[in-house]
This record gives sequence, C-alpha cells and structure tokens, in this order.
Amino acid sequence: MSRVAKADWDRLAEAALEARRNAYAPYSRFQVGAAILLPDGEIVSGANVENASYGLALCAERNAFGTAMAQGRRAFTAIAVATQSSPPGPPCGLCLQTMAELCEDIDILLVNPAGERQRTKLSRLMGQPFRWKGAGTPSWKGEKKAQTKKAQTKKAQTKKAQTKKARGASKAAT
Ligand code: THU
Repeated sequence: MSRVAKADWDRLAEAALEARRNAYAPYSRFQVGAAILLPDGEIVSGANVENASYGLALCAERNAFGTAMAQGRRAFTAIAVATQSSPPGPPCGLCLQTMAELCEDIDILLVNPAGERQRTKLSRLMGQPFRWKGAGTPSWKGEKKAQTKKAQTKKAQTKKAQTKKARGASKAAT
C-alpha cells in the first residue's frame, strides 16, 4: 500500500507532464518532466536542459531534486516522471543514484502524455545502490531523526500541558 493518496498521484502526474512542456531538448528531442511530492503536499518540479556540448545535459529528475534541496527540503515522498515513451520510461542510472543519496526509498510514477501510468519504486529499479558509509549521515536519515525529535518534543509538550491543566482542575476543586 502506498502512502500516497490517489488525488496526490493525479496531481503529481499532471505536474510532471506540465514540467515536461518546459524541457529544453533541442538535440535529443526527448522531453522529460519530473515532479516531486513533499510530505506537506507541496510539489517541486524540473525538466531536462540540454547543451550543445551534449555531456552537459541535465536530467529532469536531478533538476527537480536540485531545486528542492536548494529550498532546504530534505524529505521526499514520491516522484512522477513524464516522458514520451510507451510504456512510460524509467529514470536513468544517474537519477536513480541521486534518489538513493537523498531518499531511503521513494515511490515512483512513470507517465506519458497518452495517459499511460506505471507505479514503481526506487528499490525495485535499483536493487543495491552505492551508499558510502564514510560520508556521514545521509540527509534522509538526518531528516528522519529530526522528525522523530520534533514528534517527541510535541508529545512532551502536550503531556506537560495536560498535567498543568489537570493540576489546575484539581486545585479549583479543592
Ligand atoms: N533524461 C532525463 O531528463 N531523465 C532521465 O532519467 C533520462 C534522460 C534526458 C537527458 C537528455 O536531455 C534526454 O533525456 C535524452 O537522453
């Protein structure tokens, strides 16, 4: 069962197809759009940007992750990738490796303008990604830790407030 609601998959597919319209791909003529869903429901998108020096081509997925990272976002729920392929094409190895750097795993939706859709996930497309243990805490682990800490602090605050309220109530009763 995916953590992503049907309406969010629809929004994400739309955003990826929309982003694809902004692709700059005069050399390959292969336009790609990507849209990342963040835990708060926000969507960050990207498109491929090519160069006359072919090797400089930037993929849509990595552009989207670069934008999200530059905005300080560190947790990613799902990504939709739009290509003209049928069936819809998967991300390239470089983009999968980028996802492996920034996500523990991520739900992926492959779409095309004809309306075909295929759901998959990073762990299915890249079984054993390269992860360098010496590189410190991966951002997704840090984010998990931060989220747990946030949740714990909130729980403690709620408990404190409840205790205070209960004390107040018992004081008023005496
Ligand atoms: N491309 C992407 O944007 N994402 C991928 O995952 C694979 C390839 C782009 C790069 C290039 O501009 C064009 O598609 C053809 O390779």
